[in-house]
Amino acid sequence: MKAAVTIPVTVKCRIGVDEQDPELALDALADGVFAAGADALWVHARKAWLEGLSPRKIANIPPLDYERVYRLKARKLHKFIGINGGIKSLEEALHHLDHVDGAMLGRAAYHTPGILAGVDVTFYHGKAAAFDFAALVDAMGDYAAHHIERGGRSVMSRAIWSACSMG
Ligand SMILES: Cc1cc2nc3c(=O)[nH]c(=O)nc-3n(C[C@H](O)[C@H](O)[C@H](O)COP(=O)(O)O)c2cc1C
Repeated sequence: MKAAVTIPVTVKCRIGVDEQDPELALDALADGVFAAGADALWVHARKAWLEGLSPRKIANIPPLDYERVYRLKARKLHKFIGINGGIKSLEEALHHLDHVDGAMLGRAAYHTPGILAGVDVTFYHGKAAAFDFAALVDAMGDYAAHHIERGGRSVMSRAIWSACSMG
């Protein structure tokens, strides 16, 4: 992949799979991907239990182990290590940045996109975003119409609902 593209190549992983020992498995994976030239490793701080759990349960049931990701960063001081999993607010994300290089929000961004309005002010000393929520919902409506016209799926209704609930 590095040879084929000029953009950064990043890898996302969990701390281990099934019976693996995360202390060994995560270091081995990190060493491998950085040796292959990856520019960043994003770690979802829980194991992937592939045996016996549905995709939905696997997102919640294995316990989070942020400390394991922090230990990886301490070992890989000169590599970009980002953390993901269960981060619900920008304040939590900020706390993680004491230990790692980046924090990734998945479901929090999906379910409560309005919290992203605080990113500039929280992380980049920027100004608080001033949103006109009515205009935002209108724009989402136009976007959804265009998306559906092109054969997009009804997942748009959830995005619009999220936008409405921000106001
Ligand atoms: C609807 C949905 C779609 C996702 N799609 C991807 C994906 O395409 N690639 C990926 O690496 N992770 C994907 N994930 C996993 C998230 O990136 C993230 O690792 C996971 O939700 C844990 O973070 P969270 O607790 O902040 O949500 C998805 C999660 C959700 C809820």
